[in-house]
Amino acid sequence: MSKQDDYKLLLSQVKAMVKDETDPVANMANVAALIQEAFRFWWTGFYRVIGEQLVLGPFQGPVACTRIGFGKGVCGTSWKEKKTIVVEDVEQFPGHIACSSESRSEIVVPLMKNGEVIGVLDIDSERLATFDSIDKEWLEQIAEAVSGVL
Ligand code: SME
Repeated sequence: MSKQDDYKLLLSQVKAMVKDETDPVANMANVAALIQEAFRFWWTGFYRVIGEQLVLGPFQGPVACTRIGFGKGVCGTSWKEKKTIVVEDVEQFPGHIACSSESRSEIVVPLMKNGEVIGVLDIDSERLATFDSIDKEWLEQIAEAVSGVL
């Protein structure tokens, strides 16, 4: 199966999974698990906007930083710019926050509600340049499906 096919299946699983559950934590937890089952990335998880910070939410993978400021790191930059950020090499991203020394590339997709960022979906890979425009396109659809139930 191609990456496109994997994502197509994943998106349908995400939509089916969240449609009957109203609890945001339960939904984020299961979506992180679905993404990991599909792709086995190094780290997949959510940060939620709480006040002036992004606070760690449900995730799969090693222990991570709990709080990230507005405009800080890849996550805080995605929040500030309200857009997906794909990083091919985290060492080349100024201000990257290294929760794990194993992480080499990263994608962060904002979760939007009524034009505001309410959280981010953050995925790390232990390999360089893991994420491309295909990941961006599909993960944005997954983020949209999740945002709708947060
Ligand atoms: N690398 C992120 C921090 C979160 S961890 O990757 C889980 C960043 O620079 O915002």
